[in-house]
Formats: sequence, C-alpha cells, structure tokens
Amino acid sequence: MKLESLSLVNFRNYEDAELQFSSGVNCLVGENGAGKTTVLDAIYYLSFCKSYFNAIDSQNIRYGEGYFLLQGRIERNGENDKLSCGVKSGQKKQFRRNDKEYTRLADHIGLYPSVIMTPNDIDLIKEGSEYRRKFIDSIISQYNRTYLDRLIDYNRVLLQRNNLLRYFSENRTWDEESLDIWDQQMIELGSFLHQERKSFVDAFIPTFSSFYKRISGNAEDVSLVYQSELSDGGYREKLKRHQERDRQLRRSNCGIHKDDLDFLIDEHPIRRFGSQGQQKTYLIALKLAQFAFIEKATGVKPLLLLDDIFDKIDDKRVSALLQLVSERTFGQIFISDTHEDRVPRMFEEITADVRIFRISKEAIDVIGETA
Ligand SMILES: Nc1ncnc2c1ncn2[C@@H]1O[C@H](COP(=O)(O)OP(=O)(O)O)[C@@H](O)[C@H]1O
Ligand SMILES: [Mg+2]
Repeated sequence: MKLESLSLVNFRNYEDAELQFSSGVNCLVGENGAGKTTVLDAIYYLSFCKSYFNAIDSQNIRYGEGYFLLQGRIERNGENDKLSCGVKSGQKKQFRRNDKEYTRLADHIGLYPSVIMTPNDIDLIKEGSEYRRKFIDSIISQYNRTYLDRLIDYNRVLLQRNNLLRYFSENRTWDEESLDIWDQQMIELGSFLHQERKSFVDAFIPTFSSFYKRISGNAEDVSLVYQSELSDGGYREKLKRHQERDRQLRRSNCGIHKDDLDFLIDEHPIRRFGSQGQQKTYLIALKLAQFAFIEKATGVKPLLLLDDIFDKIDDKRVSALLQLVSERTFGQIFISDTHEDRVPRMFEEITADVRIFRISKEAIDVIGETA
C-alpha cells in the first residue's frame, strides 16, 4: 500500500496544500505549530474517517471557513484508489472512495489500515480503561468487520438501556420486561465481543513481548491481562445482580464496556512500577505489535505514522526502532520532527527511499531526497 499524494483544503492551519509522497520514508520537519501533526492526522482521517486528536470534525475546519476537504490517492493491491473526506459545518461528513459515497463509514475501516504513534500515547498507560478498550477495538476493527458492526450495535443497545434506566428513575417507575429486551441483546452482542477480545489478547501477547524484548534488549517479562466481568461466564446472573445498582445510578454497570487491559511488567502494573524508559518501550512495543498484528491479519502493511517520536525517546530505543525499519519490516512511513536534520541523518545508513518535507506556516517544500 502506498499513499501517493495528499491534498488538504481548509484543514486546520492549511488553506490549500498538496504533498507527493515517497513509497519509503517521509520526514516532515518544521517548527512547533507549523502543521506537521496536522498532515499525519489528515492521513489518519483517510484511514479511519476521523481525527486521531479531535473527535469533533467541525473543529478541524480552518478558522473562519465553512468546510474542509481532504483527498488522497492511494495504491493498494495494484489498484489506484481515490479517497476523500469532506466536512461542512452543520452537515453530515461525506466520505468517498473512488467518487462513491459511503452510506456507512464503518465499511471503510480496515481497507487502508494505519498505525499512529504520538506523544499522547502515554495516556494508554496513565488514563482510564476507555483508552485501552479503544486500543483493542481499533486493532480488531481493522481486520474483523463483524466485530466493528457488533460493537456499534452494542454501544447503541447500551445507550438505549441507559436511557430506559433514566426514564424509570425520572418517572418513578420500573418495568423489568422492557429492561429484559435490552439485556437479551447485551448478552448476545457482549458475549461475542468478549470472546473476540479474549482471542485477540491471547494472540497479541507473544508478538508484543517479542517486540518489547527486541527494543529493550533485556529480559524483563511483560504481559497483558484482559480483565472482564464476563470472563467467568454467567452474564445473565451478573446483569441481575447489578440491577439494583443500575437502578440507583441510572446507568449500566455490568458489561464489556467496563473491560480493561492490565499492562504488566514483571507481573506488576507498569503504570505504578515501570520507569519512564520502560513505559516508553512498552508503548512502542504495543504499537509495533499492533502493526505486525494488522499486517498478519489483513496481508496489508499499515501506513506507519510517527509523530514527534524522536523527541520523546532516547537514542537506544531510537536505534532499536530504526533497526526494525531497516529490516524493511514496515512499508510506507511518515515521521515528524522539529529538527531539520536529525531524522534524515538517522536514515543515511538505511537503504530506503527518503523524502524530506520542510513545513512552515508559508509553504511545504521538498528539501531532500534519496532514491
Ligand atoms: N481549526 C483551525 N484553524 C486554523 N488553524 C488551526 C486550527 N486548529 C489548529 N490550528 C493551528 O494549526 C497549527 C498546526 O498545528 P500542528 O499540526 O499541531 O503543528 P506541529 O505538529 O507542526 O507542531 C497550530 O499552529 C494550530 O494553532
Ligand atoms: Mg506536532
């Protein structure tokens, strides 16, 4: 897969810009605020139909304008496809593939996979369980369409069930039969999703720990443990047991929307016991494993988007990462950095096509290229 070109119109700081990419490594260099992350996010948009950073589409429209339009030309399995994403304020997002608009955005997910690494990834370790559920969901969704469909259904059922609980409370009423209708659907969908998550985590662990070992170069033991109330069965009884609490709190307290993934290092939570360096290694290994996993499942090498990565990790880990890059483990890569020559210098010894873009508030210039 190769993203050939990208055009951005009224997307955040860009009024009208176009980039032609190398099939190897694309470096985006420039000062803070120049728009490097914005280019990576535009690529992410074409992959996931949404921003990695800002869930509110309209906030990505350039100040003072009424719409944005992103367009990409992308080669995949010998086909040249045209992708476009348009957002007008106050209107539904329009996403097209080869000029045909999707009726369901979910149909696009997984066709042009990508993996993004950003400084914000530390949230995966530090923040609440929803970040880790999103991590799991975004991997499985890229190779398993049924999973994504049922996840969307589950979230809809959950919302309806919560609405009903609120309705009961506001109207001082209770009707177990109506609740049962949603419970039945939650059980069906939730059991499926739970099983998929469990199989995914089991299969993911060896890939993850082997990347961790390669990057850290040492023998710390890392593991992931899938935490779910559904793990030991009896979903229906558990829903019943939570009913009184659901009623009081006016929301559903039992189900896969409460799942978590424990990140362990030598059997202790990395959040508390890992050094900063270990945490960074952990995150890189998670993302590289994500890449390997999606590639294996789909047969397509995802686009790899590395935002400011070299600013956040030390030389030892950078060289381990580059070692992997030089083995051509990856396909097309996009890397942003504030230093003009740091990333290009690191690629000097690596036989890959490298194109360097200098991004400033005024223009995007290609300032270097190896063939
Ligand atoms: N909706 C918007 N309209 C115009 N400019 C925006 C909008 N949202 C963000 N920006 C600006 O876009 C610029 C680019 O940000 P970013 O891509 O994060 O820069 P970099 O990654 O190079 O540091 C920032 O200066 C930011 O203030
Ligand atoms: Mg940035």
